[in-house]
Amino acid sequence: MNILAIDTSCDETAAAVTQNTKILSNIVWSQASLHAKFGGVMPSLAQRMHKERIDLVVEKAIKNSKLRTEDLDAVAVTIGPGLSIALGVGVDKAKEIARKFKLPIIPVNHIEAHILSPLAKSNKIDYFPAYGLCISGGNTIFVYMEKIGKYKILAETQDDALGEALDKSARMLGLGYPGGPVLEKFAKMGNPKKYSLPIPIIGQENRMIFTYSGLKTAFYRLVEKEKPLTRQKIYDLAACFQNTAFTHLIRVINYILSNQNFGKTNYLLVGGGVAANIEARKRLRELSKNFNIKALFPYTKKLYGDNAAMIGITAFLNPKNKDLSEIDRSPALKL
Ligand code: KG4
Repeated sequence: MNILAIDTSCDETAAAVTQNTKILSNIVWSQASLHAKFGGVMPSLAQRMHKERIDLVVEKAIKNSKLRTEDLDAVAVTIGPGLSIALGVGVDKAKEIARKFKLPIIPVNHIEAHILSPLAKSNKIDYFPAYGLCISGGNTIFVYMEKIGKYKILAETQDDALGEALDKSARMLGLGYPGGPVLEKFAKMGNPKKYSLPIPIIGQENRMIFTYSGLKTAFYRLVEKEKPLTRQKIYDLAACFQNTAFTHLIRVINYILSNQNFGKTNYLLVGGGVAANIEARKRLRELSKNFNIKALFPYTKKLYGDNAAMIGITAFLNPKNKDLSEIDRSPALKL
């Protein structure tokens, strides 16, 4: 099944062509540098840039796939969750293309797509039941997946998502936006034990939530206290924040895996921008191993951050054919 997929949920204008779980093209035009001066994503700027770039990105995705428009079987589009006015650009474009080429349209949940992104290129389908984890800029969510389309949320963020918390801490250290990748680089040169930061809800993991707002406030105070910041201090602070943030993530998942019995589950599927972090992947692999579970991550870097290939793959795996008139953006869409 050849699918043209579109994602404009945040600050990446993305289009891809997929064939079942295979990626034929995957074009991502990031706006990150434009939003950097605001320290986060400006929705109106995101919308304007999506509008300017969407045609070019879609055209390039089709051209690079080496398919003709007649070869396409469907159009898939992210309808949520995401920034409302940004989502609207992709949804309108997908509808326009579906109408023009008389193609069915498949609405896709962005979080589900991150979680299914490790299945890109896979011919196998018997991964389920499995656990799924999305760690991105907008979401931190851990789910039990009985099968494709049937998910039970086990823990989700109460405030900031993990990526958002990393971005905000990086900003406090003057590292720019998005801060996650820079924080990772600096953390490698720092001592994660240099400062003590409170691990969120330590000892209360049975609440089964992720929360980063308390840690963020504690970090802000620590950074203020340590000013003026030397290079080494920045490295140590980055290492401490990243370490504490990941420790919380792992402790909550560990609690759930130790205390919930869903029967035999062989896989943990992990997706989202933060999964690009080597330390995060290492800890998730170690944790999974303790429970005889194999952690699976996307096979290529381009699948971690926002992209449309994961949207096409999800549309293939979970096709929810809808009438054009039923398709609308859904900024607060749940899994
Ligand atoms: O998946 P994504 O592109 O966006 C959402 O769907 O939300 O994730 C973006 C997030 C940002 O917060 C970014 O800082 C973080 O992923 N990120 C990383 C790394 N690369 C991207 N965080 C930690 N380490 C990285 N290497």
